[in-house]
Amino acid sequence: MSVVVRVQAPSNIALVKYMGKQDASLNIPANPSISMTLDALCTFTELKWIPASVFRLDWSGLESFEGKTLRPMPLREKDRAKMERHFRRVIEHFGHPVCGHWTVSTGNAFPAGAGIASSASGFAALTLAIAAALGHADASIEELSSLSRQGSGSSCRSFAGPWVRWQGEVATPLESHFEPLSDLVLLVEEGEKTVGSTEAHQRVRTSPRWDGRTERVTDRLGRLEAVLKGGDWQGLTCLAWEEAMDMHDLFHTAEPAFSYWKPQTREILDWLARCGARTGISDHGAVRAAVTLDAGPNVHLLIPQTDELFWVSRLSRTFPNLPVLVDRQGVGARVLSLNREVP
Ligand code: PMV
Repeated sequence: MSVVVRVQAPSNIALVKYMGKQDASLNIPANPSISMTLDALCTFTELKWIPASVFRLDWSGLESFEGKTLRPMPLREKDRAKMERHFRRVIEHFGHPVCGHWTVSTGNAFPAGAGIASSASGFAALTLAIAAALGHADASIEELSSLSRQGSGSSCRSFAGPWVRWQGEVATPLESHFEPLSDLVLLVEEGEKTVGSTEAHQRVRTSPRWDGRTERVTDRLGRLEAVLKGGDWQGLTCLAWEEAMDMHDLFHTAEPAFSYWKPQTREILDWLARCGARTGISDHGAVRAAVTLDAGPNVHLLIPQTDELFWVSRLSRTFPNLPVLVDRQGVGARVLSLNREVP
């Protein structure tokens, strides 16, 4: 017998950020976070399992999937070791002995290391693929998110959507009456990050701004939940900006200080602020756009799906050399196919 499962798991973009851990070994966050689940910016994973008495795990890159060109996930030695630990953890969680010949092929539909959380979609895809291969495709969001979190924290928010709240061990869907949104990612740089997120989670604690971070986040979480229920654009815009700057201030004031920003990041932020995407108001009236940044130089702009064309053409006129990725809100990881073959 062999099992072949194919899954797709999206990345997510947080508006209240996970930055700092309460328990680093279990990836328990220092504070709750809220994110919007993405859709096309995702990882595709194909997992093949042939039962055997010994354990063997092979990794390979997936270059395309159903006509879509992918970027095979670059696995450094330490990423591979982390993924293998996660592999064993998930198998054991479902009560199976760690054995059999497993082949994982995986690829991203977006540039890795671009400040778009590829570890989020990668670990969510891997967790769901193993669960499905072992007969647990219908595991609850709570169970999958709790498991995936132990591999990569932010991956726990990629199992539901469009809005998700992560607190403690699990992430759960969040009520929202907001209109369908798009995320425009202004790709300032595609290179690898100089400070990885594991390091960033530790270093932010050395910032004088770490004091009071929990209080500031608690206040924003309450406000964001109300804003999402009420579909309040101005509230969303102000909150998103405030929180993104708060997280980057932690980086800029850590000891030693570090920054993900490039000169163009600042230029884009200044331009967006002049357009009203900081306060929700411009000289011409209300602006429906919210700005955020992950741990990277790229700027995310959340806008109504109906305004995509308007914003993309405005951005390409203003920043002609800047690639813009367009994605939309999504519903979370899903199994695309599951085949059991009995020889
Ligand atoms: O899951 P990690 O350890 O890669 O954390 C990434 C955290 C941020 O992307 C910077 C913020 C967030 O909440 O997604």
